[in-house]
Amino acid sequence: MKYGVFSDVHGNYEALKAVLEFYRKNGVADFVCCGDIVGYGPQPLECVEAVSGLGNLHIVMGNHDGAAVGRIELKWFNANAARAIEFARARLTGKALDFLSNLPEKIETATFTLVHGSPRKPLTEYMLSERQFADNADAWAVSPCFIGHSHMPMYFSLQPGGIPETDFLKPMMRISSAAGRMMFNPGSVGQPRDGDPRAACGIFDAEKKAFEVYRVVYDVEATQRLMGEVKLPELLAERLSSGY
Ligand SMILES: [Fe+2]
Ligand SMILES: [Fe+2]
Repeated sequence: MKYGVFSDVHGNYEALKAVLEFYRKNGVADFVCCGDIVGYGPQPLECVEAVSGLGNLHIVMGNHDGAAVGRIELKWFNANAARAIEFARARLTGKALDFLSNLPEKIETATFTLVHGSPRKPLTEYMLSERQFADNADAWAVSPCFIGHSHMPMYFSLQPGGIPETDFLKPMMRISSAAGRMMFNPGSVGQPRDGDPRAACGIFDAEKKAFEVYRVVYDVEATQRLMGEVKLPELLAERLSSGY
């Protein structure tokens, strides 16, 4: 089975539509979402509706989702992020609000583990180093573990008899492991931070235990225009052009 693994949509519906179309063209109909559907972007409601409408979906809560539903205080966010969360709060009602409010922080299936940040701190820890990967070892069991939050396409690996390793995942770079323990971050759909403005997403092949990251072109200017119309902070719109 192939899973479409994506994360950090952040209210960017133009980017999400492009990624979902990419999955459709590639015959992917099962999905894993690592959280942060809302925050930063101009269409939080549209994004929650589109994600919640996906048929076969595993999804966890991100810190921006938690803040949008009042589970996390705004004091933990910088001024621009907090303003975008307040915007999302005003937009989310009814079913979309219920969906976001009821997301779990951690999921373990027979095939994978799923968290937003890290297994030991699902809503807050940014997984970036081999040391963190090693320190999280006791907090999860089923490999691979899918993560988001840092917006960096990355993998973490511990092979039998080896030492923990990590590196960035470049587009079309396939990485697989049948024996070791792996974590995969598909990067961010709607707010990339690795210098590539295209939407990032992943495909996990469960039979081959292989993960691959893809970059998908979307209409960045359309999202930026919408951000201007709803008066979200300019900096958040500008950074979409550079992907930083
Ligand atoms: Fe995020
Ligand atoms: Fe996050």
